[in-house]
Formats: sequence, C-alpha cells, structure tokens
Amino acid sequence: MISAADIEKARAILAAGGVVAVPTETVYGLAGDATNDLAVARIYEAKGRPTFNPLIAHVCDMDMARREVAFSPLAERLAAAFWPGPLTLVLPRAPTSSVSLLASAGLPSLAVRTPNHAATLSLIRAVGRPLAAPSANPSGAISPTTAAHVREGLGDKVDLILDGGPCAVGVESTVVKVEEGRATILRPGGLSRGDIERVVGARVASGGASIEAPGMLESHYAPRARLRLNADAPMQGEAFLAFGDSPAAGPGVLNLSRRSDLRDAAANLFAHLHALDRHCAETGLARIAVAPIPETGLGEAINDRLRRAAAPRGD
Ligand code: TXA
Ligand code: MG
Repeated sequence: MISAADIEKARAILAAGGVVAVPTETVYGLAGDATNDLAVARIYEAKGRPTFNPLIAHVCDMDMARREVAFSPLAERLAAAFWPGPLTLVLPRAPTSSVSLLASAGLPSLAVRTPNHAATLSLIRAVGRPLAAPSANPSGAISPTTAAHVREGLGDKVDLILDGGPCAVGVESTVVKVEEGRATILRPGGLSRGDIERVVGARVASGGASIEAPGMLESHYAPRARLRLNADAPMQGEAFLAFGDSPAAGPGVLNLSRRSDLRDAAANLFAHLHALDRHCAETGLARIAVAPIPETGLGEAINDRLRRAAAPRGD
C-alpha cells in the first residue's frame, strides 16, 4: 500500500522539518524529526496539545535506541522480547541523545519504542533519526486507527498521510518505566500486563501516571457523544457498543468482538467509537452505551481508554 516513492516523499518532508502521519501497529502517529525543535513544535501545534506532555521517540533498531537512552539489563530483556512491538520504554536519557528537549518536556527520562510496521521502520531508517510521534488525533479526541480518521481529525495540519490500512493492534503501546531494576506500567496498552510480567519474572505495579505521564489527563480519547459504561443493553436514545454474544442489532449498534476476543476488541475499539460517534451526530443521539469488558489481558487497556472517554469534561 505504501510505495518506495511514498517513503521517499515522506523522508524529504521530515528532513525539511515537516510532519507526516504514519501507520504503526498500534495507532497512526503524527511524526516529525525528534531532533528538530521546530518539527516537534509543529506536532504539538497540529494536535493542540499542552506542551508539557512528552512524546515517544520512535527508533528503527537497538543501535538507534542505544544512542538515545541507557538500557539496564531488565530494559534490554523487555526490548529483546517485545520490539518491534507495542511496548514503549521510559529510560534515562543517554548523554549521546539527540532528541529535542521539547519532545521529552525537559524530563531526564525519554520514552522510546520500535514500532512493528515495515513501512514506518523503513522511513525511520531513511531519515536516520528518531521520529517523535504522538497519536495523530487532535488532543483529547479519539485515537486514529485508519488514514481516514487522521484526515478527519487533522486534515491539512499534516503535510502527508501515509496510508498503511487499519492498525492491527488498535490501542496505543503499553508505557513501561524501568528504573533501578524495577518496571512500572505508566499506561496500559497493546501489550498485556501478563506478557510483561512473564519477562520481568515478577508482578509489575502500575502507577505514577499523574506525575510520570502528564499526558494522562482524565478526560482523553473523548467522542462528542457521552458514554455510559458497563451497560447490558442500550436504553432509548442510545447507540450501543456491544461485546460478545449480544442480541442488540441495528444501525446504532456495533460489536467489538462477537466471539469475545479482546485482541479483536482492541483492534476495533477506536474505529467503532469513531463510527458510533458519527452515527450519534447524524441522528441526534446523545449517548453511547458500552457493554462490560473483562479486565483481563488487553481488557485493561480497553477499559482504561473507555473510562477516559467517559470521564466528565469541563464543558
Ligand atoms: O502506540 C503508541 O504509543 C502511539 C504510536 C503512534 O506509537 N503513540 C502514542 O504517543 O500514544 P502519545 O504521545 O499519545 O503517548 C505517549 C505517552 C503519554 O502518556 C506520555 O505522557 C508518556 O507516553 N511519556 C512520554 N515520555 C515520557 C517520559 N519521559 N516519562 C513518562 N511518560 C512519558
Ligand atoms: Mg494520544
């Protein structure tokens, strides 16, 4: 879907300080040269994002990663097990790091990840520098899992959108901070806690979100319609996001996974929320009821996103 010519075009835009929406296995990212302050500023500007929110530096391999951050033995093991893949590691910034201080919000740590997407990896390799890339949506809106979502949300604020089709995982990466031989999950995501704990060899705590990941605002990923969680069935005037075997049917009903598969549900989550939100806007419905999702495996990340989308907003 993405040709060598597309990658060369994207490379040239990025090298000149532009911003390009790129597919990853999790969600689409709004990418800029992470070493270029101006490019990073353009990312924040396009998203309308508070500038204290640090970004992930996307790298193509361990050589590039090692120039940017210091790996402890535990961090090495996690990277070896899950990269390329939906894991972001927050590690001490290396003295050789070239990443803009604006991108890391002036923190002594830096978030890095190797995305599992061939075209985007080729692009990073061609640029030769890490790409800073938050999810390619306006700040506070639902994350994009298709090129159409990006176009809808950011339109002409991006110089180019590379269309790699729908994202395979569908929720953002799991953010893990590794410090003094200990791993902490700062944001649940596309890699489950169980997978991480198998490699760590111990239970892994969650935490630090408010301090460590200032981007974790309560109301995030918000559709325009309101959300009602843990709903067994829709009420009058509600669209319905079902999960598993459900008798609900009709134009305002979508199912995250009829066979109750949490991987399918994660992959469908943002696309279904986008679609039901559009349906509500078109038909005048004010609310989306959401079926209960088990808290196991990827359910932790799905429920995290749903709770944020349902959180009360300032308006
Ligand atoms: O899957 C993903 O992670 C997507 C794709 C595009 O790679 N990216 C993404 O980026 O979700 P963003 O910027 O929306 O989320 C990055 C998360 C935020 O919660 C941010 O606060 C946290 O990582 N973060 C980044 N740098 C950090 C740091 N130095 N310390 C703690 N948290 C950090
Ligand atoms: Mg985001």
